[in-house]
Amino acid sequence: MSELPRTLLPALSSPPGDRLEVVSAWDDATPYQSWRPQILVPATFRPAEPSRVYAVVNQKGGAGKTTTTVELAAAWAAQGLRVRVIDADHQEAALSAWLLPQYPEGAPRHSLRSVFFDECSLLEATYPTLYEGIDIVPSGLDLVRVEYERPIGAEHTLANALAAEAQQHGGPLYDVTLIDSAPSLGLVTVSVLTAGDQALVPLGVGGLDMKGMASLHRTITVVQQKNNPKLDVGAVFLTAWDKSGFARQLAAKVSEDYPEAAIVPIRRSVRAAEAPIAEQPVRLYAPESTAAADYAQGASIVLTGRDAA
Ligand SMILES: Nc1ncnc2c1ncn2[C@@H]1O[C@H](COP(=O)(O)OP(=O)(O)O)[C@@H](O)[C@H]1O
Ligand SMILES: [Mg+2]
Repeated sequence: MSELPRTLLPALSSPPGDRLEVVSAWDDATPYQSWRPQILVPATFRPAEPSRVYAVVNQKGGAGKTTTTVELAAAWAAQGLRVRVIDADHQEAALSAWLLPQYPEGAPRHSLRSVFFDECSLLEATYPTLYEGIDIVPSGLDLVRVEYERPIGAEHTLANALAAEAQQHGGPLYDVTLIDSAPSLGLVTVSVLTAGDQALVPLGVGGLDMKGMASLHRTITVVQQKNNPKLDVGAVFLTAWDKSGFARQLAAKVSEDYPEAAIVPIRRSVRAAEAPIAEQPVRLYAPESTAAADYAQGASIVLTGRDAA
């Protein structure tokens, strides 16, 4: 495809003191003032199926979906895995604006919309990014047509497109697929959940974020029952995490609701907020930041259940 030189994503060298501790149960005894953020990996945690398709979902905007998609992709690509990210958010298309697709000159430009309307295959809508190991299926505002025109079978479009591609090529073309979704539970988001082996849920630490979890939980349950029995919640990322009694309560509530999920705090970092403007993953823009380090640990845990970052 592209002849452009691609940037290698760096290995991190976070000081050991800065790493999050991994536990299998919350420590309830320590008062929150002296409590340090921890990653919970319950004994019941199971990594996703080998096709490793992750639906990054939360119908609340600003929850950290796009950031989580970019940083997990960057962490896995830095390990040499082949990663494809799919932008399924027409409202912002922030993923496409962050990881700019490199379109070949003189050829028609496809997007996820073209896949929903059967105009091309998923692979034909996949483009390299500037980063070694990360390819993208971009989106733009026109993806909203799927919600209005409701092409027949749209709920299954992504799952079918991934399955058809794997069948044609004798296995998945990518080691990992991450699908960034819109802040809504519309048809495209249902299609994303139908395609996923696991849901990854970024969750902001706020009262409204906590309330929104209930409707997400219902949607996931319905998709599980009707379209995709294997779907479960693999991990919840507590994004822009700050130490507070509320953050701790939220973490406890999330592990009650999703007893099989890993729970990964991503500490608040100004560098994370700046990275999209620089059009670079946080891992490249600020490899020394806590956000890059926390996502690296989270990426390892999501894939394997172990902290090898
Ligand atoms: N760990 C973090 N620390 C500080 N800001 C963050 C962090 N993670 C995400 N943000 C910022 O929060 C905002 C929402 O994140 P984003 O990933 O765009 O959420 P969503 O895709 O769910 O709408 C963005 O401005 C982003 O830069
Ligand atoms: Mg987003």
